[in-house]
Amino acid sequence: MEVRKDLKFLRQKSEPVLEIDGSIRDLVDQMVDVIDLERGAGLAAPQVGVLKRLVLVRFEDNEIVPFINPIILERGSEKDIVEEGCLSLPDQLVNVKRPTYVRVRFLDIEGNTIECDLEGLEARIIQHEIDHLNGTLIIDYISLVDKIKKIFN
Ligand code: NI
Repeated sequence: MEVRKDLKFLRQKSEPVLEIDGSIRDLVDQMVDVIDLERGAGLAAPQVGVLKRLVLVRFEDNEIVPFINPIILERGSEKDIVEEGCLSLPDQLVNVKRPTYVRVRFLDIEGNTIECDLEGLEARIIQHEIDHLNGTLIIDYISLVDKIKKIFN
């Protein structure tokens, strides 16, 4: 399984997972292999060519957790700016401003509805991955000032 880098594909919106069947479980297994191989912090299904609302997040203890149909229920008012990379955009690092806290609802691999609070790096990763499900990429966060600097460099 290769990481997709074609922007036209990555710009598409992903569809909800309607049933957690064998094909979804296989997809999760394959995505775990990819994230391990690529040493990624997170991975979204569209990055491996599947337009389904499914992402993986690597937690700080190194555990890789699948989030199926994730939605952000709540965002903290505090934000910070951190430089992010993306396996689909290997040559880009972009400063992205995001809330430092989010509350997320998702299905686990058994189909249980889970709600969890994420902070810091994990909050950042899940927001980056949910962006992928909506066709949003880190390059969309490049500020106008940085774009102009790039042109004149
Ligand atoms: Ni990414």
